Amino acid sequence: MHFPQALLHLFLTLTGSRAFTVPARVTQNAPACNAAAIRSALKAITWDSDHAESLKPEYWADLAQTNLDWFKDFSVTTSGSFETGDVKWFEDGQLNACYNALDRHVLNGKGDKVAIIYEADEAGDVTKYTYSQTLARVSQIANMMKSEGVKKGDVVTVYMPMTPDVILTMLACARIGAVHSVVFAGFSEDAIADRIAAAESKFVFTTNVGLRGGRSIPLKKTVDNAIEKDRAKKFVEKVFLFKRTEEEVNFVEGRDIWADDLLAKQSTTCEAEVMNAEDPLFILYTSGSTGSPKGILHTTGGFSLYAMHTTKTSFDLQEDDIYACVADAGWITGHTYICYGPLLNGATTTVFESTPLYPDEGRYWDMVERLKINVFYTAPTAIRSLMRFGDESPKKYDLSSLRVLGSVGEPINPAAWDWYHNVIGGGRATVVDTYWQTETGGHVACNLPGIHDPKAGSCRGGTYGIDIGILDPQTGQEKVGNDVDGVLVIKKPWPGMARTVLGDHERFMTTYLQPYPGNYFAGDGARRDEDGYIWVTGRVDDVINSSGHRIGTAEVESALVADSSVAQAAVVGFPHDIKGEGIACYVTLNNGLEMTDDMKKSLKMAVRSSIGPFATPDLIINAPALPMTRSGKIMRRILRKIAGGENEFGDTSTLADPSCVPVLVENARS
Ligand code: WTA
Repeated sequence: MHFPQALLHLFLTLTGSRAFTVPARVTQNAPACNAAAIRSALKAITWDSDHAESLKPEYWADLAQTNLDWFKDFSVTTSGSFETGDVKWFEDGQLNACYNALDRHVLNGKGDKVAIIYEADEAGDVTKYTYSQTLARVSQIANMMKSEGVKKGDVVTVYMPMTPDVILTMLACARIGAVHSVVFAGFSEDAIADRIAAAESKFVFTTNVGLRGGRSIPLKKTVDNAIEKDRAKKFVEKVFLFKRTEEEVNFVEGRDIWADDLLAKQSTTCEAEVMNAEDPLFILYTSGSTGSPKGILHTTGGFSLYAMHTTKTSFDLQEDDIYACVADAGWITGHTYICYGPLLNGATTTVFESTPLYPDEGRYWDMVERLKINVFYTAPTAIRSLMRFGDESPKKYDLSSLRVLGSVGEPINPAAWDWYHNVIGGGRATVVDTYWQTETGGHVACNLPGIHDPKAGSCRGGTYGIDIGILDPQTGQEKVGNDVDGVLVIKKPWPGMARTVLGDHERFMTTYLQPYPGNYFAGDGARRDEDGYIWVTGRVDDVINSSGHRIGTAEVESALVADSSVAQAAVVGFPHDIKGEGIACYVTLNNGLEMTDDMKKSLKMAVRSSIGPFATPDLIINAPALPMTRSGKIMRRILRKIAGGENEFGDTSTLADPSCVPVLVENARS
């Protein structure tokens, strides 16, 4: 059935439901009434038709032309395919992401608008930067980089705390065509060294220390230790050092540069480099099920457009909104939804340096009240950890400015969803569950405010331009219709998708594009319910999602076996009330060694220092033997169940030696 679009829009306006605005009250659980039911049905029809339009390349061509400034227009909207792994968007167009995020707004008379609100570690320590001020400092950082030899195409490693300078450094890279590789400031020296070496990065940005929750974090020291390692030392030429505090740090003459001093001498104007739409904008390392982390590469035109469009549509972003995403710039959420998405829209974005518990569990809500935040974006794990403190704390604050509450990183369980919606959002703000990945560049599934009724725990389905499919994991056949489950794929290329894994296109193909030919394979399982809503059921590979952090079991295992006391290790995730998934490590010690409490502590330390504190195991379980199939494969399904406290293990007859199972059950409980 086809309704004329204009008629539909007229009807929606008359019935008070405008596309792209948030309804005064979320319609979920609203009493059934005819008007509401008709409105809902018409919204669904309008969405279906809008969505069908967005699957056509012309939709993106139009948006790219109207929403971005191009130095040279593109003549080809998209080319390539999933089969050949050479997808491109706007390939002969030229633009600059930083120019679009800053200059464009200044030139359009928005120079005095606040671009960045910096909420520093101490509550209420707030600094605001206008678009003009942001552009001036970014230009100075860019000029400083150029004066020290950073060139277009160079990879710049960024290991910085959550101060505006991390965002400005990313933008300065984009301005001169350098490729930023931000490494989350919780990663260990080994992890930094690996990433520097993999990207052959000659330049590193850091600060003397970071400040979080009142604690000083020795970032420069960690960088120094990373560069001590031969694999990193052979590449690094310059370390740019910002000052977060007056704390003294080691300074290597000839290599280290006090950035604040040098950039103060730079001009506040810097020509933006003309970039091809398919030139790399950044790489970001992420964990996979096997091997070392992958350097996911995003390109200038497609990523910029996708970041901009999803920020606008998923959060129903309005011109005067105060927008706060409290993720870290070191993860993709910080890249797309603190830095590029909001600034490309000319919005006011917040850089939050602290933790949700500093000075107490009211920190977020205190900030929402003070800054009058309209759009707030966080992860279910943070919501769950704050829920534990009860409703008293949020109730002390005026949260009436909140209109949209985003959730990201893992499925949001209904109890957390209800609390977020009712206690934080006063039953009024819309919860938007955004499903996506480092590789997708931006949201690929979510309920759009004002367009879709949310369902607690479901990310609904494909957003603009995203055609989601559910496939039978064995046959690869699509499961059409509702009430089906399988693996989640995306059926058509979209502008924001990653183009490759740095230096290893083969790995990009085998991980994402070859498992189900003709589709992008996300690595997640999903169910489409009887109403057509998608429920992500979690990773189908060996990746653990702990507190919204993506951790490869293979990385934890290699950290453990690198310890001289360990003969073998198998790492699995298990259900965890706060973190979503906890990390359980089954460890076989070398002959003669005993699994004491001290040994467990030292193994946890081994993982912390190899990857970072966020990957600290929750459980170390003594495993004199691991459950292996006769062909020598570890049966992780059983390990997951044991760690989760289950007693039923299904069919264990294929195990070479089933007697190891009760021993592991016993050890997991001790
Ligand atoms: C998971 C984070 C369910 C998923 C943006 C995905 C989610 C992985 C959701 C990517 C969500 C992220 N519902 N699961 N709303 N958001 N995930 O690359 O397993 O750090 O594959 O990107 O997180 O993690 P990444």
